[in-house]
Amino acid sequence: MRKPFIAANWKMNTDSQYALELASGLEKAIADIQGVDVAVCPPFVYLQSVAKSLSVDGNVAVGAQDVYFEGNGAFTGEISCEMLKDVCCSYVITGHSERRHVIGESDELINKKTKAALEAGLKPILCIGELLEEREADKTSEVCEMLNRHICLIFKREADKTSEVCERQLREGLKGISEQELANVTIAYEPVWAIGTGKTATSDQAQEVHEFVRGVIAELYSKEAAENIIIQYGGSAKPKNTKELMSCKDVDGLLVGGAGLKVDSFYEMVKITE
Ligand code: G3P
Repeated sequence: MRKPFIAANWKMNTDSQYALELASGLEKAIADIQGVDVAVCPPFVYLQSVAKSLSVDGNVAVGAQDVYFEGNGAFTGEISCEMLKDVCCSYVITGHSERRHVIGESDELINKKTKAALEAGLKPILCIGELLEEREADKTSEVCEMLNRHICLIFKREADKTSEVCERQLREGLKGISEQELANVTIAYEPVWAIGTGKTATSDQAQEVHEFVRGVIAELYSKEAAENIIIQYGGSAKPKNTKELMSCKDVDGLLVGGAGLKVDSFYEMVKITE
């Protein structure tokens, strides 16, 4: 049985005071919740104070939003796995779409970060997901299929862009990672068009991609590895859609942005999931 895992990615939000209020408020709120793993991912500069403010045997784990793949040394502006561990981080997000598409991180770099995190004993949350135009390409192809099978052939190359992109990001992101190491990896499917837009994927859309992801993991590793891996959904997840998303067979948790910045809404999502 997969234990649900809900993580809040605070992105570049909060200040030192609010970060502490949010973390301790959440810790109190979920003190009695047993059936869900919970983590918060504050900005680097607040990691240590947040981690220190949480009790060691409490219910809230701490994660970072990024990491560099090299060991400590001359890498100005970067943060190493050792540093994250030093401030009691257990998780780290790799390949978030904002790093892929705003900062310009490649699959290769994301793979190096994911591997380095695992080697250091951190648990990466590897994010994958298609852009709006890639999702739209699927739609165009579906419409063509309905209208005319010949036209459909023209668009065939564009068909199923979502799966193509997710599969590539998965294969590249997990390159060189053993099945044993995979046990410490969480996958987060975050359709880019759903992030911060209020436009959530429908449960059918989420389930379809999550099932596909599990299939790719089965191909890359084994059926058992696919059965065990936690796949989170991210993209405008909020209390209102938590029940529906979490009722999907292959949705094992959520990676939450905006709704994770308030104790009440994040607590509600954890409670609904329990
Ligand atoms: O990593 C979480 C994320 O990108 C989703 O953000 O604000 O749409 O929940 P949001």
